[in-house]
Amino acid sequence: MTTIAHISDLHFGREQATQIAGLRKALAQAAPNLLIISGDITQRARHREFQLAERFLSTLPFPYLIVPGNHDLSAHRLIERFMFPWRKWRRYISHDLEPQTSLPGVHVIGVNSARRFGWYWDWSRGRISSQQVSEVVAALQAAEPNTLKVVVAHHPFWLPTANLRRQLIGGYRHALEQFQAAGADLILGGHIHLPFINIVNGMLISHAGTTISDRLVKGQPNSFNLIQGDSHQLTLQTLEWEEDHFALRQQQSFRKQSDGWQQH
Ligand SMILES: [Fe+2]
Ligand SMILES: [Fe+2]
Repeated sequence: MTTIAHISDLHFGREQATQIAGLRKALAQAAPNLLIISGDITQRARHREFQLAERFLSTLPFPYLIVPGNHDLSAHRLIERFMFPWRKWRRYISHDLEPQTSLPGVHVIGVNSARRFGWYWDWSRGRISSQQVSEVVAALQAAEPNTLKVVVAHHPFWLPTANLRRQLIGGYRHALEQFQAAGADLILGGHIHLPFINIVNGMLISHAGTTISDRLVKGQPNSFNLIQGDSHQLTLQTLEWEEDHFALRQQQSFRKQSDGWQQH
């Protein structure tokens, strides 16, 4: 059985040392085979924040896969944003903005949904292009049978309420149809700093909250998720910060049926 830990929106620059120590402890206990980090690793894409993030990543005793978020692009230095949007990411975090990785029985596909510009005022919005969808579909189709197929992007492909929906990733309808047809099992993301789990088109969608930053949504503590199982059955756990440690908040189990994932 594989264990994947999913953390998100670390926002170095607004990180909290106690939560970092608590996260390290919880991860040491869970001993994940892979750690997935779904974007917004910095608060304002500053060198100092990327350096803190780099130091954090360099001390992780597990393999990890990370994709960028909208905060990892500078919102204020426009020349940097337009001319060299990913220079700091490549210097401090990774050359690969859309990494993929395989474990026995699991394949994970990263998508970069952050954009330096859009025809709208809110540049925090994200998008998946049809080219990116085609690349994800090709990777899904190339995965071995009986592989758990996971897609990770910072921006959400589904949200529970109408007032949150402007945060949805642009192009989500087409992407969800294509991912379903290509056999995706699990779609992971972050961005809204709220954890949730839902089944959409037979696929599981799970989002992690902000794991260590103080950019909290009212009433929602820091959190991260643990995913355990394989391509036939999965258990998804959300752990939330309680006083001085991460504690199990909710757990749901799912089985894969002929028409997709169902709660068990
Ligand atoms: Fe964020
Ligand atoms: Fe974000």
